[in-house]
Amino acid sequence: MGSLLITISARRPRDPTDKLTHSAGFKLTCQAVSISLAPSHFLAVVTFMSDKHATLNLTHEDGTEQAIDLSVHSGTLGPDVLDVGKLTANGYFTYDPGFTSTAACESQITFIDGERGVLLHRGYPIEQLAEHSDYLETCYLLLNGELPTAGQKDEFVGIMTRHTMVHEQIRTFFNGFRRDAHPMAIMCGVVGALSAFYHDSTDISDPWHREVAAFRLIAKMPTIAAMSYKFSIGQPFMYPDNSLDYAANFLHMMFGNPCEPTKVSPTIARAMDRIFLLHADHEQNASTSTVRLAGSSQANPFACIAAGIAALWGPSHGGANEAVVKMLEEIGTVDRIDEYIAKAKDKDDSFRLMGFGHRVYKNFDPRAKVMKLAADEVLAELGIEDENLEIAKRLEEIALKDEYFIEKKLYPNVDFYSGIILKALGIPTSMFTVIFAIGRTVGWIAHWNEMIGGAYRIGRPRQLYTGETQRDFVPLDKR
Ligand code: CMC
Repeated sequence: MGSLLITISARRPRDPTDKLTHSAGFKLTCQAVSISLAPSHFLAVVTFMSDKHATLNLTHEDGTEQAIDLSVHSGTLGPDVLDVGKLTANGYFTYDPGFTSTAACESQITFIDGERGVLLHRGYPIEQLAEHSDYLETCYLLLNGELPTAGQKDEFVGIMTRHTMVHEQIRTFFNGFRRDAHPMAIMCGVVGALSAFYHDSTDISDPWHREVAAFRLIAKMPTIAAMSYKFSIGQPFMYPDNSLDYAANFLHMMFGNPCEPTKVSPTIARAMDRIFLLHADHEQNASTSTVRLAGSSQANPFACIAAGIAALWGPSHGGANEAVVKMLEEIGTVDRIDEYIAKAKDKDDSFRLMGFGHRVYKNFDPRAKVMKLAADEVLAELGIEDENLEIAKRLEEIALKDEYFIEKKLYPNVDFYSGIILKALGIPTSMFTVIFAIGRTVGWIAHWNEMIGGAYRIGRPRQLYTGETQRDFVPLDKR
C-alpha cells in the first residue's frame, strides 16, 4: 500500500458563501517524491488501497473534513489511473491544462512509455513493425487488433486497392480553391466534403458501415493528397493505378503525368511506405483526441477526420516536419548553428528548435531512431548531398551534447528526420504534413471506431472560471 499526501490550493472560494480563503500552496509527498511549496487552505490525502480504491481526504481550513472514495483502474501497461469522475458530485473539478496527467479514455490500440522510449501497436514494438511489416499490414493490425493471415492480408490489400478512386464530383471541389492554397487547407476541406458523399449511407452504429468508412478513408487519402498537390502546380489530376502498391500509387499520382508512363523508384516507394507506417498511430495525441472528441457527438466520421487534419496541421504537432525544413533553410550554413541553438535556449526568444522535444518522450522517440536509419539508407542509396542535410546532422550532434537539451530531455523527434528524408525523396515541403495525415488516418479511424464501438459519452471538459462574477446589464447611455 503506497501513500500520497497532497495539499491542494484553490485561488478562489468555491462559491460566495464558502469561507475558504485564497491561498497558494502545494505539497506532494509519496514514496519517491517530495515537493513542498507554500501552505494552502486544505489538505488532501490520497491513499492507494490494495483493492484499487483511493480515498481523497480533504481537510478544509475551518477544520471540516471530507472523504471522497475514488476507484483506481489498472491497465495492462502504464501507470494506474485515479477515477475522478465522482469529484464533480462533491463540488470539485480537476484542473489539468494540456492534459498532462489526464487519461481521457480507455484504449487497446497503442501504448507509449515515454521515459523508456517504447511504442507498441497492439503490443508489437514499432521497430519490429518497421522492419518486418508494411503500412497496409500495420493498418490491418491497428484496426483489427491482430496481424492478418496471408489470406486476410490479400483480401485487405485488395479492398484498399479498389477504393482508391474518388467520386468524379470531388474533382470539381478543387476548382473552388486558390492555386496557392496550402495542401493541408485543401485536405481539410475535401476530406470534410466526403461526408456529403457518404452521410446517409453511413450508420455509425453499424460495425460494417464503420469498417467501410475506414476502408474509404485509408484508400482515398493518398488520392486526395496527390490531387491537392497537382492542383497547386496546375497539372492534371492522375487517376490511381491499382497495379501499384499503396505507396507507389501515391508517388505515381504525385509525380506522374498523363503524357508518359510513370517510373516509380522502388527505393523511394519503400521509404515512403515506411514513413506512412511510422506515422500510423500515436495514442491520444492532439489530432487523435480531436477526432475522438468530434466523434463523441456522433458526428459523421469523414467530418471527424477533417477535424483531425486541422489539429495535425500546427507546427507543435504534424506541421513540425515542414517547420524543420524551413528552419534548416533559415539557418542556411553550418556556421550559424550556434546562433540558433542560443536562440532556442533564450527564454525571451520564442524560437524553438523544430523537430526537438516531445510531450510524452523524455528519451529518444523510437520512431525517430527508425526514421534516422531510413534517412541514412535513402541518402546513401540515392547518393544525395544537400547542405541542409549537413546542417541537420550537425544540429542534432550539437543539441544532443548541449546541457539545456540534456537537462530538459529534448531529443530529436520523428518530425526532425521525416523532414530530412522527405526532402531527400523530392517531396515538396508543403506536402510534408499531408504525408503525416495520410499515414495517421488509420490511427484516427481506429480510435474513432474503438470509441463508437464501445461505451462512450459526449466529451465535455469543464473549466476553472476566472472571469467576472454575476453583474447587471448596463444600458448603452449609462456606459
Ligand atoms: N526547443 C527549445 N526548447 C524547447 C523545445 C524546443 N524544441 N521544446 C521544449 N522546450 C523547452 C520549453 O521551453 C520548456 O522549457 P521551460 O521548462 O524552461 O519552460 C521545456 O522545454 C518543456 O517544454 P514544453 O513546451 O512545456 O513541453 P510540451 O510537452 O508542452 O511541448 C512540444 C512539446 C513537442 C510541443 C515542444 O517540445 C515543441 O514545441 N517542440 C518543437 C515542435 C515539434 O518538434 N513538434 C513535433 C512533436 S513530435 C510529432 C508529433 O507527435 O506530433
